[in-house]
Amino acid sequence: MICVNNLAFSYSKIPFIENTSFEVKSGEIFGFLGPSGAGKSTLQKILTGLLPGFSGAVSVNDTKIGRHTGTFYEQIGVAFEFPSLYEKLTATENLRFFASLYPTHRDIPSLLGMVGLERDANKKVSDFSKGMKTRINFIKALLHSPRVLFLDEPTSGLDPSNARVVKNIVLEEKAKGTTIILTTHNMYDATELCDRVAFIVDGKIKALDTPHNLIMTRGASNVRYTFVENGTEEYREIPMDRTSTDETLADLVRHDRLMSIHSGEPTLNDVFVEITGRHLV
Ligand SMILES: Nc1ncnc2c1ncn2[C@@H]1O[C@H](COP(=O)(O)OP(=O)(O)OP(=O)(O)O)[C@@H](O)[C@H]1O
Ligand SMILES: [Mg+2]
Repeated sequence: MICVNNLAFSYSKIPFIENTSFEVKSGEIFGFLGPSGAGKSTLQKILTGLLPGFSGAVSVNDTKIGRHTGTFYEQIGVAFEFPSLYEKLTATENLRFFASLYPTHRDIPSLLGMVGLERDANKKVSDFSKGMKTRINFIKALLHSPRVLFLDEPTSGLDPSNARVVKNIVLEEKAKGTTIILTTHNMYDATELCDRVAFIVDGKIKALDTPHNLIMTRGASNVRYTFVENGTEEYREIPMDRTSTDETLADLVRHDRLMSIHSGEPTLNDVFVEITGRHLV
């Protein structure tokens, strides 16, 4: 669905994105995961035809970016990281305006209802909270049932229950067959939602795989156990594959002295740090 071949781009004389190639399959949720300033939004802007001046070949839904026309925007939906809405118009007026740009569109009251904004339909966007703006910005991208959805930090600034609502809608869109590009620095969102994730740092893709493969093949699972020694609580952490040979653990088990034992798989953040040497936040 998306093909990027040998992409290069810079904002200044210093090269930023270089030698970047990847593909996104139809119906996949593909994540750009990286810290602030990594180049996630830049990549999204290139893929959506908003940032000219790149070299290499980029195509989205069989459209070559650079030669795209207005009809390209009928097939893609974009939620920018900063809500792009008319502040003086109400929620419904905003959605009606953007809907008028497309040949057909989804029912506006039901879209508002999906993100819990039905009671705010006639309120001016200037009176919306940050999270309300994020939610209306999100449903704006779904208005015309696009084949490809670009979501830049769709849960940013949302409370946990609204973030859950948005993530469920993202999964519903995937179930319908929509291809989704999701930009995030949230490892939990990336782990839960994405079929594959690209780790991005300084404009470069440092790793690309399924969250499961990244976690299981790159990081070691650990076991942490606690026990009392000379009246004080002690703990030990060992790699999962050393539990059978760890003498302290064997002794504690033999004498029923184990207080607690937990296993912990590395998180996507641990793997991100291991591969890139950088933290996500
Ligand atoms: N219009 C611009 N002109 C010059 N430099 C820019 C421009 N937009 C972004 N940059 C620079 O490009 C780099 C990547 O920015 P980008 O917005 O793509 O990062 P990001 O990964 O989306 O970060 P965040 O998580 O904070 O949204 C940053 O160093 C930024 O300063
Ligand atoms: Mg960004």
